[in-house]
Amino acid sequence: MSTTRVTVSGERPYDVVIGRHLLGELAAMIGRDTRRVLVMHPASLQATGEAVREDMAGQGYEAFAVELPDAEEQKTAQVAAFCWQVLGQADFTRSDAIVSVGGGATTDLAGFVAATWLRGIRVVHMPTTLLAMVDAAVGGKTGINTAEGKNLVGSFHPPAGVLCDLAALESLDRWDLVAGLAEVVKTGFIADEEILRLVSEHAADLKGWQGADAPAATWDVLAELVTRSVRVKARVVGEDLKESGLREILNYGHTFGHAVELAERYQWRHGAAVAVGMVFAAELARLAGKLDDAVVDRHRELLTALGLPTSYRGDKWDDLLGAMRRDKKSRGDMLRFVVLDDVAKPVRLEGPDPTLLAAAYAEVSKEPPAGRETQLTLG
Ligand code: GLY
Repeated sequence: MSTTRVTVSGERPYDVVIGRHLLGELAAMIGRDTRRVLVMHPASLQATGEAVREDMAGQGYEAFAVELPDAEEQKTAQVAAFCWQVLGQADFTRSDAIVSVGGGATTDLAGFVAATWLRGIRVVHMPTTLLAMVDAAVGGKTGINTAEGKNLVGSFHPPAGVLCDLAALESLDRWDLVAGLAEVVKTGFIADEEILRLVSEHAADLKGWQGADAPAATWDVLAELVTRSVRVKARVVGEDLKESGLREILNYGHTFGHAVELAERYQWRHGAAVAVGMVFAAELARLAGKLDDAVVDRHRELLTALGLPTSYRGDKWDDLLGAMRRDKKSRGDMLRFVVLDDVAKPVRLEGPDPTLLAAAYAEVSKEPPAGRETQLTLG
């Protein structure tokens, strides 16, 4: 498998490298004037994190590692404070660096710790999940959660580089892979129809992800999907790092999706909530006279073929509407949605009529799932 490099432009351009066994690229990304490196990884990735730390130590860096709680548990002010303590005790200076090894929660936390230590030190992300490769690790969003909500504290702090080592996906749970594919499908709908074609052609193999045993053709298509998704994200965040315009398109399906995540007390995987959110946005666009039935159907077909949910229970409208109004991405009281005029033609829909919103919800809740979507929930 060849190695692909995608450059993200901006004040300090950086590369996202996609391939296999990329550890050899890390030192160049960290930079020559760096003496100390802190590898941050969740407890479940102890062996991988330690391998990275040892490699760095072998190259002459003073290399430290910090083990974090798994998943969202790590995205707290307490865990960040512990990391600052480690950095302080090891005398990390402005020219030293952090390396994150993990999924989106780890890249968010490590990015936040790097953004805040001495007002900003370098961070290189080594994402280990599909979701983190195609979304969280690229684009410089960092953050932690508070008791009041997710990602309420954070900053934009682009990394010095991102290494998407596809070998990490060998051991990825198939439902984590499928949940990551929701963001890939999102990228297809907002910007790259070829992604939709590839996912549709290979949906059965992707849904039945066999990790290390997956056929070479499935690995090839996955590499292509990661590369295409990263290219879109790189182009968007290169133009609009701080989400003042174009970057909003990346939130396709997320306004309703975030509300579902909250209603489900974060027991649904993010990708599952975004999948339903995309169907809601598609129905909203159809009802607003923007989107053809065929493209709405294509949402349902593609997501269903991957095993992602396309409907949601019908008794939660007040909660969902309230959550959407409070979404941190809304401006004032005005509800904003990203919808499509067509595939790869995203537009903003501001302050839609409440009856339109309720009608879109009715379409999404017409055929609610028969039982609990166990494969895509976390509990
Ligand atoms: N995940 C959306 C963004 O990075 O803007």
